[in-house]
Amino acid sequence: MDKKKVIEILNKALTEELGALIQYMQHHYLYEGANFVCVSELMKEFSMTEMDHAYKLGERIAMLDGIPTTKPGEIKVPKKSIDMLKANLQDELAAIENYRKWIQEVATLGDPVSRLMLEKILGDEEEHAHELEMLLA
Ligand SMILES: [Fe+2]
Ligand SMILES: [Fe+2]
Repeated sequence: MDKKKVIEILNKALTEELGALIQYMQHHYLYEGANFVCVSELMKEFSMTEMDHAYKLGERIAMLDGIPTTKPGEIKVPKKSIDMLKANLQDELAAIENYRKWIQEVATLGDPVSRLMLEKILGDEEEHAHELEMLLA
């Protein structure tokens, strides 16, 4: 197994998750559109799921003797609440594409444990995208 390359991929994922968890946290604080109570709570719930992803990735990186990154990815906080939901959906769809690619890559590098972990995360991102699509429908 090529540990160095696996760690690189997991750190890319970790950066995205750190950005996502801060972005959802901020949207939880600032959302004030339609269905305020339920959407705001949903953003909090999503941010906690992203934090769980970040923890799992960081723990796996450390176990492989890598250093987990502390660098968050891009954080989008649009002024209009509806645009927050749209930005989140866009980001979740990008995450789904990324995870599909990373799953293939770690499998090729010979790390079935990381592959399984990334597959579980992918399932959560698909749920997030689905729920955001329902909200925006
Ligand atoms: Fe995530
Ligand atoms: Fe997500």
